[in-house]
Order: sequence, then structure tokens, then C-alpha cells
Amino acid sequence: MSESSTLVTAAHFEYVAARTQGDDALLRDLKAAARDAGLPPISIAPEQASLLQILLRSTGAREVVEVGTLGGYSAIAMARALPLGGRVRTIEYEKKHADFARAWIARSDVADRVTVFQGKGMDVLPTFANDSADAAFLDADKASYPDYLRESLRIVRTGGLVLVDNAFAFGQLLDERPKDREVAAVRAFNDVMAREDRLQSVIVPIGDGVWVGVKLR
Ligand code: SAH
Ligand code: DHB
Ligand code: MG
Repeated sequence: MSESSTLVTAAHFEYVAARTQGDDALLRDLKAAARDAGLPPISIAPEQASLLQILLRSTGAREVVEVGTLGGYSAIAMARALPLGGRVRTIEYEKKHADFARAWIARSDVADRVTVFQGKGMDVLPTFANDSADAAFLDADKASYPDYLRESLRIVRTGGLVLVDNAFAFGQLLDERPKDREVAAVRAFNDVMAREDRLQSVIVPIGDGVWVGVKLR
């Protein structure tokens, strides 16, 4: 560990979470309904949602592209950080998830700022124009992350953000025998991200680890 780093423990994460604005009624109800509908409980943590909102607000983002909508939790959170006229284009492969997200986005305060595209990330991303987004958030199938990164670097403008969830591979990043089959994909992607010289990026160790990158050129 470098000289100036603190070894962050589970207690530190609890401390951080306890000092983070929690979910409002809509996002709490959405999560409860998602659980009842059998969607997996894998939306980003509230402290990650807060980080994404801070980054979007501080860069003045208007156009966001997301891969991996699930129930719409992160899409609604990000849309709330955009100015009037801003838009989140979010891509979801599973029809059940896309339908659920559309219903909850429709009853949210940002219904006019989120569009759900049902399809595979690599079928939909190529339909988005060059330089048409200020930020991309990647949170779908991990094996496709290198492809999503390549597309994001085309779609996001210079100075925009590339944000990626699960850098810590569901907590199994450093396990010798990880249980989840996507861990190898996350490890390989983290090395791709570290080598990508069009981005200045760093893993922020909240939630399951989120890459924050800014497109330099
Ligand atoms: N961003 C969401 C969580 C996403 S979970 C949130 O924080 O609320 C990952 C989602 O990616 C799942 O809903 C899964 O169905 C979707 N997914 C998996 N493979 C995909 C693909 N090839 N294209 C688009 N979405 C995909
Ligand atoms: C899984 C996927 C995610 O994007 C996440 O944040 C947590 C877990 C999963 O596939 O298990
Ligand atoms: Mg995730």
C-alpha cells in the first residue's frame, strides 16, 4: 500500500454509507417492487449514485448513455443530475427488466429525461452518433466491457466521462478461486482500462468499485 493510503475496512464503508444521502421514497419503492418482481438486487449503492450525480453536475453533463438499466435505479439517479432538456439513453437486454424500468421511470420525476432501449449493448451502442454524449456509465455484462469502452470512447465527447461499475468484481477481485465466472472478465477489463491512454482514470473504492475516467482526446 502506498504511504498515504488508509486500509479501508468494512467499518469505513458503513461510516461512508451512514453519511450519504439515502434513497428517496420513489427509489425505495422501486427497489422493493424490483425485489417482488424477482429482479436481482444489484443496482449501484446510494453512495455510488451520489458520486455519479456529483460528477455529472460538476461537468455540466446533459447527455448520458448507460449500458445495463436493470430496474432503472441508476438511470433515474443520473437523470436527476441533468439540467432541463438533459437525457439518459439507457440500454437493457432483458425484456422483463426493460419493461419494469420503463414503468418506474414513467412514474418518476424524470420521466421525460430517460429513454430505455431494449437490446444488447453491442447492437444498440453502434446506433448512437459520435460525440453525442457527455458521459457513459457501463454496468452490464462484464465480458463485453472492452467493446463497450471502445464504443463509449467514440460516443462521449472529449472532456466527457467514462464511468464503469464493478471494478472490484463483486468483491472477488483478489480471490484465488472466485465463484463468479465474470471475475476473469473484470480483471482483464481493469487492465485494459489502466492501459487506455485516451482516458485519465482511477478506481474509486465505493460500492463494488467504480472506474472514473475523463476522455483526454
Ligand atoms: N445500472 C443498474 C444495474 C445494472 S445490473 C442500476 O444500478 O440500477 C446489469 C444489467 O445488465 C442487468 O439488468 C442485465 O440484464 C443487463 N445486461 C446483461 N447483459 C446485457 C447486454 N448484453 N446488453 C444490455 N444489457 C445487458
Ligand atoms: C452483478 C452485476 C453487477 O453489475 C453488480 O453491480 C453486482 C453484481 C452480478 O452479475 O452478479
Ligand atoms: Mg454493477
